[in-house]
Formats: sequence, C-alpha cells, structure tokens
Amino acid sequence: MKTSYVLHQEDLPRQWYNVLADLDRPLDPPLDPRTQEPLAPDALLALFPRACVEQEVATDRFVDIPEPVQAVYRRWRPTPLQRAANLERILGTPARIYFKYEGASPTGSHKTNTAVAQAYYNTIEGTKTLATETGAGQWGSALAFACGTFGLGCTVFMVRVSYDQKPYRRAMIRLFGAEIVPSPSDRTAAGRSFLEADPNCPGSLGIAISEAIEAAVRGDGTKYALGSVLNHVLLHQTVIGLETIRQLDLAGEWPDVVVGCVGGGSNFAGLVLPFFGEARAGRRAQPRFVAVEPRSCPTLTRGACRYDHGDTAKLTPLLKMHTLGADFVPPAIHAGGLRYHGMAPIVSRLVADGVVEPVAYDQVDVFQSAVLFAQAEGIVPAPETAHAVHAAVELARRCAERDEAKVILIGFSGHGHFDMGAYEAALAGTLQRVA
Ligand SMILES: Cc1ncc(COP(=O)(O)O)c(C=O)c1O
Repeated sequence: MKTSYVLHQEDLPRQWYNVLADLDRPLDPPLDPRTQEPLAPDALLALFPRACVEQEVATDRFVDIPEPVQAVYRRWRPTPLQRAANLERILGTPARIYFKYEGASPTGSHKTNTAVAQAYYNTIEGTKTLATETGAGQWGSALAFACGTFGLGCTVFMVRVSYDQKPYRRAMIRLFGAEIVPSPSDRTAAGRSFLEADPNCPGSLGIAISEAIEAAVRGDGTKYALGSVLNHVLLHQTVIGLETIRQLDLAGEWPDVVVGCVGGGSNFAGLVLPFFGEARAGRRAQPRFVAVEPRSCPTLTRGACRYDHGDTAKLTPLLKMHTLGADFVPPAIHAGGLRYHGMAPIVSRLVADGVVEPVAYDQVDVFQSAVLFAQAEGIVPAPETAHAVHAAVELARRCAERDEAKVILIGFSGHGHFDMGAYEAALAGTLQRVA
C-alpha cells in the first residue's frame, strides 16, 4: 500500500493563500489600547516590517512568496504527506488517516514557515535584531534558525517553565546564534513586575510577549516577531495546506475532516485555510475543520470572543478574538505551545461562524494517543501535535464503531524529540490530569 505522497522541490507553492479575500465580512480591526479607536496599520511599524504590516490587511487572494524565502523553504519543503496505515490497522478502523508532517523542518515544526519569511522581510528593511517570545521553544528555535540564515541578531524570551523543562531547546536556540532569556526576567519592566508579584512565576506566553515587545521598542534597530495569531503569520503558514491539497490529489483523496492543534492558531489555519478557499471557490466540498486545544487552556471552548490584549502587560493593540483574559496564566502542561490565552482573529471568526469546531482534551488522554501513534508510525508527536493526533484517533474509533470509511487529515505540526520527559511521564503513568 502506498503510504507516502511526496512533491518535488519544483512543486513548492510560489504564492501563499490569503483568506481575507474570502471572508463574508472583514475582520474587526485591531484597536489602539489608549483610545479604543481602530489602529492605523502604520502604528504597527514600530514593531513589524512594512511588508508584514501590509500583509495584515492585504485583500489579494494570493501573495507571492519572495524567491529568497522559497530558496530557504526548498531545503526541506515540500514536506511529506503520509498515510498512517499502521495506526489504522491497530485501531481496526475503516477510516483512512493522513498526516502532513511539518516535523521535517530544520527545527522540527511548522514554525520555520513564518520565521523565514519574517526574518527575510526584516533583513531587506534594515532591521538588525529581532526580539521574540517562545513557549515550548519551537518558535524560538525556528526564529533563531531563520535569523542565523539571514545574519540577523535574535533575542528569545522563553517561558520559564519550558526553559527549565527543555534544556536542549535552549541549546538549539543558542546553536543558531540567538540569545535566550528565561521569562519573566529582570531585563524588562514588565518582567520585573511579574517577578515582584511572584518570584516563582512559571511564566506564560502572554508574559513573554510583553517582555519581547518591550525589548523591541527600547532596542535600537530591533523589531518584534510573533510566531502565531496575526494575519501575516497565518498567511505564511498556508504553504502547508496548499502543498497538502496537491498531495491529496496524488492520493486521489479529499478529506472529510481536518484536525489540527491550536495554540495561537497558526499551524491549524495554515493547513485548513486553503481547503476553506477551495470550498469557497466552489471547486470542492468543505470538510469539517476540528481545532483541538488543551482542557487546561480552553480558549475556544470556554473563552469569550471579545477585544483583548495579546499579552499580559497589556502593551499590544486590542484584537477581537477568543480569549481567557490577558491575565490568565495556564497550568504548566507539557504542551507549552498551547498555553496561550488568546487566539488568532481569523480562527476566532471561523469558530464564531460555525466553520471551525473546537474541542478540548486533557493531556493524560492526549498522551495515550501520542504513544499509540509513535508506536504505530515510528514518529514521535510534539506534545502540541499530540492533541491533534488524539482527536484523530477518537474520530477514527468512531468510524470503526459506525463502519464509516472517512478520510481524516491531521496537521502534524512538529516532532517531540525534545519532549521525551513528557513521554517518560506518560509511560510511567505519572502525567497529571490538569483539567
Ligand atoms: C509543534 C507545535 N505545534 C503547535 C503549536 C501551537 O502554535 P500554533 O497554534 O500557532 O500553531 C506550537 C507552538 O509552539 C508548536 O510548537
């Protein structure tokens, strides 16, 4: 049985897909936190390069991928689409399960897709250094790699709990030439205030974002890079879905359900949006889209959709999104990249419109499926990715009960080679339920 669908380097998409062209109505604009008035896009230029600011509001359906970005993508893209045939057999399901493997990137996740684009745009606009946050370390290592590739400096504020849990992510970030700081830190006024309130603060993505923004605004020639949430980040990730559609064509398949994990929403959107676009254009049927989050950080399943800050110190513009509140500090689960209080406005809109179905699972159940997947397929899911894998396993089991031969597509956002501590706990039965 054929289980791998591989495109050639020359099949790399030359354009990203921009869903803003296909929404029923425009997104609610970001608001200036001081005036509560819509923020002029130019106000974002203190943080981001012009090209990314323009992409935030672009309305063209397709946006060219610059040739130097394509050249870096070609080092590992197109990534494989694989059929999890062994997993199907073990589950005894008539469902056909495919996964798009973003673990093939240099740093092991989808995050490089936007890191390379953002580093490139900053380079040509004269930025010297990028400041950023990272949760589990996937985004920090992706941006460190991208900055190293283009000769940019890079400072990464890493959420303290992950900094302590993942020494080899730290080493990788340093290997690519970036500086790494555990967050909250005494480097910034925001960090100092969180440490004053709680010297043992485990940190969160919201806090680390505040620190990175402060460092960017203060630093000379320094800008900020965000690894998720914003429209331009989701745009860059659509290379995933665009490739997958061509690979499924090779397999002669079209998915009934697409599942992905959601932290800020970027890998999920990167996979799902091109499928949404195909359905919008009337070319294909719209699959079910299932967004999977941790029960301990239930942004989509429990959060309200309203204006909120993207960070905890409330430095960012207000975004209309699902949120648990900018002050929410999630419990220290293993899926550090899913510990975020907010959600991409694009994903939030699609949930509000009923296009995307959110579900939430506990990490104990998630890791049972991740262990099963690793043993069946020989590929270890990142703890974040494991959430998508668990949802797919549940769907496939339901197919077995009902004898339904559905096609399930998993967004496999990254591998878990730096997360073996979580797997050790899962195997020893010492993982904690946190919901
Ligand atoms: C492997 C992996 N998957 C998923 C995520 C969640 O981020 P997003 O929702 O932006 O894809 C992260 C974040 O760090 C990650 O490292």
